[in-house]
Amino acid sequence: MWTTDLTLDTVVRLLSENEASARQTLSMVPSETSMSGLAKLPMLLDPYHRYFFNEDDDPDRWHFRGAQRLRDLEMELTVPLLRELGRASYASVRPLSGLNGMTLVLAALGGDPGSTVVTIAPELGGHYATPKVAGRLGLRVEYLRGPDPHTLDLAHAAELLARTRPSLVYVDQSHCLFPVDVKALVDTVRAASPGTLVHVDASHWLGLVLGGAFPNPLDQGADSWGGSTHKTFPGPQKAVVLTRDPAVEQLIRDTQDFLISNHHFAATIGLGIALLEFRDFGPDYTRAVLEHTRRFGRLLTERGLTLAAADRGHSAGHQLWLDTEADGIPAKTAAARLSAASLKVNFMSGLPGFTGQGVRIGLNEATYEGLSGDDIDELADVFVAAVRDTEPPALLAERTAALRRRTPYGARATEGSPLLAAALELCEGALRRTGTAAERILTEAAR
Ligand SMILES: Cc1ncc(COP(=O)(O)O)c(C=O)c1O
Repeated sequence: MWTTDLTLDTVVRLLSENEASARQTLSMVPSETSMSGLAKLPMLLDPYHRYFFNEDDDPDRWHFRGAQRLRDLEMELTVPLLRELGRASYASVRPLSGLNGMTLVLAALGGDPGSTVVTIAPELGGHYATPKVAGRLGLRVEYLRGPDPHTLDLAHAAELLARTRPSLVYVDQSHCLFPVDVKALVDTVRAASPGTLVHVDASHWLGLVLGGAFPNPLDQGADSWGGSTHKTFPGPQKAVVLTRDPAVEQLIRDTQDFLISNHHFAATIGLGIALLEFRDFGPDYTRAVLEHTRRFGRLLTERGLTLAAADRGHSAGHQLWLDTEADGIPAKTAAARLSAASLKVNFMSGLPGFTGQGVRIGLNEATYEGLSGDDIDELADVFVAAVRDTEPPALLAERTAALRRRTPYGARATEGSPLLAAALELCEGALRRTGTAAERILTEAAR
């Protein structure tokens, strides 16, 4: 069919049904998290349509004027907060996603075609796209390997680095239960191949680093770091690159100039709002993510499921990997049963150490949505009953929906607040395409 029968009414109805269902569902996909309504607000408004390039507010460079009034929301909100929480002198907010950020960094720091880039082997959880992107840029790829799926072999790394003298070590843990010891790796790089840059793509860990639960890669000696802003950081679907090194900053600036034009200005403002909220709750939230993940791993094991890395406490971060096939249940079946109980998870091949498919989960979004204390035990009960198919899915889905009625972190646009009233006015104005009274509401509330 070359056309569609869907009408606008149907589209809005489908969106509405999905919204109702999402409010009753818990996403345990580790690479996603929700964010606050306020952080989404700019995406409904005029900045969503605007380009922004004039970071320095140079009067001669306002070739695109639409972003002019809101320049400070990027340059005096998002960027300084990223510098503060990311402990960097320079923050690029131009990448559109983790993969776009990866392309930028490989293009900027990977050297001329023919140079070598060292990255994490897929069997240790390296991202599937890194070697493909590097290859398309004309870079040669070598892998860091290890004695097991969670540990780097630093002696092998030293030998590889001395032999290949790479332009860049790109640390791209994606399927990851334990973070790489960046300091030990950087020390190895500096000794074996001085001049090689180290970039840490912490897409999965970004929130955990910004919240202080994981060490900052720059403090551990890396030249730059960054990653997606929507996995363990409850922000918009974008990515960032951070550094303290002026030479690295210049390479990133020069490359992003031609690689990224529209950087989604409204999402960048949303990122600033998310960072402002996160600055207050980030340390609490990230501590809770780690605690909930360890506890959930223990609870699932006690209830008889098989998890990876049992000898190491299952996980140091937000991910857990289940080998349901070892328990006689195909991963795809387990994921479908969980979905019927309104718990969304990944099932996938290629998890390090797995021969068949596994189930990958994360406690990041459940924690952000406010689950804590006994909720984690109840979630484990629902989860295991769903995987084992021991209770009717509809009853389990009701228990999941009850768990969804918690207060998320950072909920500031509370019922009755002027902030909520103003935000609702802005939403209405965007839909009606009229002016709004939002400014008056906030001015009167401030009196
Ligand atoms: C290390 C790493 N880099 C890049 C990406 C891609 O991120 P995005 O999906 O935001 O493009 C991921 C996603 O899992 C990742 O883990």
